[in-house]
Amino acid sequence: MTTQIELAGVNKHYGAFHALKNINLSIAKGTFVALVGPSGCGKSTLLRSLAGLESISEGDLKIAGELMNNVPPRKRDVAMVFQSYALYPHMTVEQNLTYSLRIRGVAKAEAKKAAEEVAATTGLSHLLKRYPRELSGGQRQRVAMSRAIIRHPKAFLFDEPLSNLDAALRVHMRKEIRALHDRLHATSVYVTHDQIEAMTMADHVVVMREGVIEQQGRPLDLYDTPANKFVAGFIGSPAMNFIPAIVGEDGASLTLDLGPLKYKLTISSKLPPGRKLTAGIRPEHIGITGQGQGTFDVPVAVVETTGSSTFITAATGPELTIVETGRGNARAGDTIGVIVDPQKLHLFDETSGVRI
Ligand SMILES: Nc1ncnc2c1ncn2[C@@H]1O[C@H](COP(=O)(O)OP(=O)(O)OP(=O)(O)O)[C@@H](O)[C@H]1O
Ligand SMILES: [Mg+2]
Repeated sequence: MTTQIELAGVNKHYGAFHALKNINLSIAKGTFVALVGPSGCGKSTLLRSLAGLESISEGDLKIAGELMNNVPPRKRDVAMVFQSYALYPHMTVEQNLTYSLRIRGVAKAEAKKAAEEVAATTGLSHLLKRYPRELSGGQRQRVAMSRAIIRHPKAFLFDEPLSNLDAALRVHMRKEIRALHDRLHATSVYVTHDQIEAMTMADHVVVMREGVIEQQGRPLDLYDTPANKFVAGFIGSPAMNFIPAIVGEDGASLTLDLGPLKYKLTISSKLPPGRKLTAGIRPEHIGITGQGQGTFDVPVAVVETTGSSTFITAATGPELTIVETGRGNARAGDTIGVIVDPQKLHLFDETSGVRI
């Protein structure tokens, strides 16, 4: 696989503020990469650095093998799609699409043909004569995409392109964008703060926090083996439960501290006796059963149903969230048995949060 985008030791400072910290990222041609993380973690800064809209302070940034550190945006041959679409309001869809070709000297007829071809792939053929104000949000988003596609860029850079759309359209458009990426054999970098979007769309997910890449890898690898507590809590919905725990004298057992309830279970690995750690368990990995029949009993505080699944909050300290498929029978005020499989526990160092 050829590498299309490569960042090595990239740092970005805004004055005294260190926005990107030693970023190392290699993106193979044809890959769909999602940059995900909480607000302010540096996603847009990283994307804008790829586009050349920000200069980097240190490190190397290569696109298709060429060093881009000092190359201006228009010479990088990448296309950016923003949340705001940034369409020209006084131009028709067709003119919006052909504009970048026309300023590069492409003949009118040829540009028109290219616009028609792209419009056919993005479902805009019947809208070419309309102005942006005459389009729905989803259609505007497609024009923004088409305008990127028509340039045959070396990479597509998306910054939260779907945040302005309603939930149903967002779900639809994310499939559409991914399908387009596949059809065009494109290389895409997609910024989102929505971990579901990242997990469902990307081949490779990069989780950022405070300018640092906390972990990167295939979506399910991040879900199965999060490198630290932050990634564990960020990937997965509802979020993973975290329970303070202490290793027993034998080094082969763990006592979970659920407030008044302490629960001891056997673990497969050998750990230093008395070591304090944080045990993580995903809501979907806790089973429920009748009182007295599970690993331990918990009081039910809240039951929320969506139809397809049921979220149960147990009034332990800390609270436990449990997801049950289907409707279930638990009611607030009940006591239920929960089943915890020690194999499904994730263990993290109490202070550093690093996976053990
Ligand atoms: N021009 C600037 N000058 C100083 N600080 C900046 C500048 N641009 C961004 N920052 C800071 O850099 C950090 C990262 O910003 P960035 O826009 O990359 O975050 P983000 O991850 O895209 O967040 P969001 O999800 O809210 O869009 C923030 O703390 C922000 O305040
Ligand atoms: Mg941003």
